[in-house]
Amino acid sequence: MGIVNRIGTPLSPSATRVMLLGCGELGKEVIIALQRLGCEVIGVDRYADAPGMQVAHRSHVVAMTDGAALRALIEKEKPHLVVPEIEAIATAALVEMERDGVAGHFPEFIPTARAAQLTMNREGIRRLAAEELGLPTSPYKFADSLTELQAAIDTIGFPCVVKPVMSSSGKGQSLLKTPADVQKAWDYSQAAGRVGAGRVIVEGFIDFDYEITLLTVRALGASGADSTARASGAVETFFCEPIGHVQVNGDYVESWQPMAMTPAALQKSRDIARAITGKLGGRGIFGVELFIKGDAVWFSEVSPRPHDTGLVTLATQRLSEFELHARAILGLPVDASLRRPGASAVIYGGLEETGIAFEGVADALQVPESDLRLFGKPESFVKRRMGVAVANADTTDEARQRAKLAASRVKPVTGK
Ligand SMILES: Nc1ncnc2c1ncn2[C@@H]1O[C@H](COP(=O)(O)OP(=O)(O)O)[C@@H](O)[C@H]1O
Ligand SMILES: [Mg+2]
Repeated sequence: MGIVNRIGTPLSPSATRVMLLGCGELGKEVIIALQRLGCEVIGVDRYADAPGMQVAHRSHVVAMTDGAALRALIEKEKPHLVVPEIEAIATAALVEMERDGVAGHFPEFIPTARAAQLTMNREGIRRLAAEELGLPTSPYKFADSLTELQAAIDTIGFPCVVKPVMSSSGKGQSLLKTPADVQKAWDYSQAAGRVGAGRVIVEGFIDFDYEITLLTVRALGASGADSTARASGAVETFFCEPIGHVQVNGDYVESWQPMAMTPAALQKSRDIARAITGKLGGRGIFGVELFIKGDAVWFSEVSPRPHDTGLVTLATQRLSEFELHARAILGLPVDASLRRPGASAVIYGGLEETGIAFEGVADALQVPESDLRLFGKPESFVKRRMGVAVANADTTDEARQRAKLAASRVKPVTGK
């Protein structure tokens, strides 16, 4: 990308154009960070008025799994950078466009099209991590039918976790404790998985003490002054402080940073994160999910993009994960340092309705050192993430209390 050290004027021929594939709450923050740096941003998602679209220069509504439609859009908009924000994208089309270009134009796919393709399928990333890199993971097997699932569980044993290979946010995922749970888990995986489901992964249950997201940034040059490293395109790896989080039914409800870890567990976590992100390549931020028990660390999965548990960095870091992503993808220097301990707590929709409202916003912001993001999603569902509260404090324990208190004061109500 020939735009290191140079950013154009949006909406002019010199513009640095960035296309976001996915405009949820994470994409919205990435877009704001890019806007602040003077980029021209084009938002794409499957529904109108998605959060990121509300802050982009312009947007398009497209089925993200429609490769031909994505290609047509990229041909029309000629973005310098294409930034996937969600997993469910026609990644095979991205791989083709990365290789062959689009009508003589060669956009850069973030971090790489192959990384997007490998991580949208649990099988691709798990085999890469465990079989190619030899990283410690839960024991696992894949199955395409109830019979195969039963056979797989005969090897893996109980308790175990069943997940569609194509799914996110805990959708279609079950924890199985006895043989009586198998049929139900299979049925649920088939009903809730993405693109027709089918294949599942069975993982042995890891009885971890805690789990973390290790935000890992691949960016050019160690410091702003190091123009040689940038010019030579040397990508370096930077680590944020570990983020602790609580998941309920596979969906994040609370996160905090820093998570206290033993030096040995932290070192192993960084080694794993460096290995897997190095293998995926490219530039940008990655959310590396790890399970920790004492000094033992297991790789779970990785997002080649900002991570939902990393919303806490809006309060804790000098540069949030979104600003780090924006800088890294533009070839700019990064600073992954923590500024102050903090926490985040999710605000759910609580009702099924379009155009809801939120009451208690002022009460929420009475909580010391708190802040809010209301994402502006046009439609609310009971368990849809509609906003997040973040807070700082001297300790993460106190910050968690504050974030949860602020979140609890925000009351979704009918907008009618
Ligand atoms: N093998 C496992 N052992 C223990 N807990 C697990 C296991 N797999 C998943 N979980 C729990 O479920 C959560 C969601 O699983 P994950 O694989 O990250 O799915 P998703 O892609 O939906 O985020 C994890 O963060 C963890 O809390
Ligand atoms: Mg996960």
